[in-house]
Order: sequence, then C-alpha cells, then structure tokens
Amino acid sequence: MAGRQVVIVGAGQAGSDTAAALRAGGYDGHVVLVGDELPVPYQRPPLSKAYLAGKAGPGELELRPEDFYAAQDIERVSGDRVTSVDREASRVVLASGRALPYDRLVLATGARPRPLPVPGTGLAGVLSLRSLADADVLRRELSGAANLVVVGAGFIGMELAATATGLGVRTTVVEAGPRIMGRTVTPAVSGFLAAEHAERGVRILLGTEVTGLDGDREGHVRVVELNDGRRIAADVVVVGIGVLPAVDLAADAGLDVGDGVIVDASLRTSDPAVYAIGDCARFPTPYAPPASGLLRLESVQNASDQARCVAAALCGKPVPYTSVPWFWTEQYDLRVQMAGITGGHDRTVTVGDPAGRRFSVLCFRGDRLVGTESVNRPADHMITRRLLASDTPGPSPDEAARPDFDFKTWQANAATTRTAA
Ligand code: NAI
Repeated sequence: MAGRQVVIVGAGQAGSDTAAALRAGGYDGHVVLVGDELPVPYQRPPLSKAYLAGKAGPGELELRPEDFYAAQDIERVSGDRVTSVDREASRVVLASGRALPYDRLVLATGARPRPLPVPGTGLAGVLSLRSLADADVLRRELSGAANLVVVGAGFIGMELAATATGLGVRTTVVEAGPRIMGRTVTPAVSGFLAAEHAERGVRILLGTEVTGLDGDREGHVRVVELNDGRRIAADVVVVGIGVLPAVDLAADAGLDVGDGVIVDASLRTSDPAVYAIGDCARFPTPYAPPASGLLRLESVQNASDQARCVAAALCGKPVPYTSVPWFWTEQYDLRVQMAGITGGHDRTVTVGDPAGRRFSVLCFRGDRLVGTESVNRPADHMITRRLLASDTPGPSPDEAARPDFDFKTWQANAATTRTAA
C-alpha cells in the first residue's frame, strides 16, 4: 500500500479529536475522517441544554470550524457510512461503494439510543436525542407542546426536564429504577436533584414503566400508558433509557466485542492495526472498581482523552491510557461535576452546604477517596481530579467528616506537609 493512511470511523467528539491530535502530533500520513452525519463535527452536550433552549445556534456547536479539516489536510467524508471492514485487505468499504485503504484504523463509532420495547414508538412525536438532527426535531415538537414525557431519569431525562421546564413545557419523567440518575450519582445527589426538579414542577414517577404509547388520528403521540394502569397526556415523548455501543462493524470484522469493542491499555482491539475509542470502547483503567474488569465510559472527557492517546500511539509515542474519568451535567443553575468512578464505594461524606446548594459528596472505598460529586463546588472537583491523577491519597473519611473540613485548606496543608517531608 502506498503511503501511510489512518481511517477514522465516526466523526463525533472522539473521531474529530483524533484527526486533530494526529496533525498536532506531527502525523504526516493521510488522515480520513468518515462520518454518516452531514454537519461539521459538533459538540453533543449543548443539544439537551443551550441548543434546545434556543440559546446556542448550530455554528456554536462546531468542534472546529469547517475549514479546519482542509487546512490540516484531513479528508472529511460526511453523509456516508462504513459498512464493512476487510481486515485482510486492510480497507473499509462505505455505503456509497467507495473503498478506503488503511494501515491503522480507529473505530470511534459511538453509541445509539436503546429502543423502548413497547407498542406505539413509531408514532410522530416519539423521539430520542443523540444527534443534532434529533435536537432539531425535538425543538420543533416542543415549540407547540404542553406536555413532555421523558422515559428514563438519566442524563438525557433530567437535563431535558430542566430545559423543557424553562421553556414552559410541563414535564413528567418516568423512571423504572428507584431513584433519578441512579447509574451515575450517589443517593445523596440523586435526592437533592429530585427535590430541585420537583420544586420547579417536574413530575417524577419512580419505579414506573411505560407499557405503550397511544396516538391521535393523525398518528401523533398523545398518551403514555404506565404499568400501574395510568394514562398520562403527552404531546412529545423522549426515550432516554441509555445507549447501546455501536459494535456491529467490529463484531462483523471478527474483533473481540462484549458491551463495547474490547481494547487493551493502549486502546488496541484484538487486531493491533485497529483501535477503538470513546463510547464504543471497553477498556482497562486503574480507576475501575476492583474485580469490575474493563469499563466503558460515555463522556466527552473519555472520548477526547482517548483520541489524544491513540493519536500519540500513531505518532510513535505510545502511552497507556490512564486518564481520570470525569463527567458533568447542568440542570437549571446547578452545575454537577463528577470526578473518578464511584461505583463500589462503601462510604460517603457530604461536605459544604446542601441547603445553600453548594456541596460535595466524597466517596470512599475503605479509607481511599475514589471520587467526588460536586454541586456548584468546582474547586472540590478539580482537587479530586488532581489527587486521582497523581495517585496521591486524599483525605480520609474521618478527616473529611470533621465539621471544619474544607477541601482547599486540606489540600494546601497536605502540599505543605509533602514539601516539608
Ligand atoms: P442514562 O444511562 O444516563 O440513563 C438511563 C435511565 O433510564 C436510567 O436511569 C435507567 O434506570 C432508566 N431506564 C432504563 N430502562 C428504562 C425503562 N424501560 N423505563 C424507564 N426508565 C428506564 O442514559 P440517557 O439519559 O439515555 O443518556 C444517553 C447517553 O447520553 C449516555 O451515554 C449519557 O452519558 C449521555 N449523556 C450525557 C450527558 C452528560 O454527561 N451530561 C447529557 C446527556 C446525555
């Protein structure tokens, strides 16, 4: 094969960042970024927040300006999808019939919304929210709507509840589990956020499932049927019950998969010429709870940091992927930030002022700080990220539980002690 060529499949955060990081790292081969969406690669976080609320336009979502790609000699193939990977011939085939040779392939295929398995999901007004196109449809639907029902009280559900409430749309969230955002935050933050939503009129139905959706004569959704027999009014229904990693290409190509494309610490799949990153990848990390094995993370941080890690490897400077996981969500005027993986913690200590809507929940496994959830307390979040990244022990649970504990003061004292030692 003539020359070096990296093909990146998927032009989301992970894919676009890989292309940019390759050039920043001095990669001089050909770079092709293939995405099935038409728009210039964009940020997804504002889709459920500022963009939906009409406070940001499509131009403000772009990860990089359109002319960046040509200027950096990155070939951007948009509106076309890779349909197969021929590992023997080292090439991918696109839906358009075009074939692209590669010597290294990066799968950044992301994830797709999990479908809700009930009758009526084909009605107009029943939506998911993943892409800019989805957000545009949702914006239109919400503009004339009185009642929104969101299925699933995860990131999508609760961010949408906040945005829709701000737009004057009455919102009901139907959650199968016992609390909101149960996958990602501790019961303390879950309870706090649920109260904030309830105060603003959001109705949250926990332990409840949707059994079907009913429409009007025009085929537009109007009713959500629940497993307790209730029928609630809905002009728009958004299904936000999690995502499924997009592993089909990898599986069809015979790569190891299992809730994600399985990769090693260098983010290489079972074929050393093929890497997988972002929402679709399942990888080893020092932050995984003991005995949990590999993790798959759905976050901008992970997509971005894994993109840089793969680009470094392709530029001849491989380093294992060890970035500290972190996440954030914004609901109303609350900025909730999560650092570390808190799954498997056995103790929490709340610091700060929950009544004043500024507090953090420190999560411990044994005596070790494994993560912090902060509500309007960005300093606690940053300190935790730095501690985890440097593998420096944080405060013990007993220290954190002292009434006068302050994370910034603790850190300053700890730094002085380390310098003196
Ligand atoms: P999620 O995993 O955050 O939440 C899904 C929720 O749906 C869970 O609470 C789960 O218990 C519930 N659920 C599952 N099946 C259900 C059912 N049949 N009926 C009712 N409830 C059910 O996933 P979500 O909110 O769909 O988000 C999709 C993706 O988008 C995730 O990857 C998420 O990380 C990402 N995202 C991240 C944001 C952020 O980081 N701030 C914002 C928006 C989306």
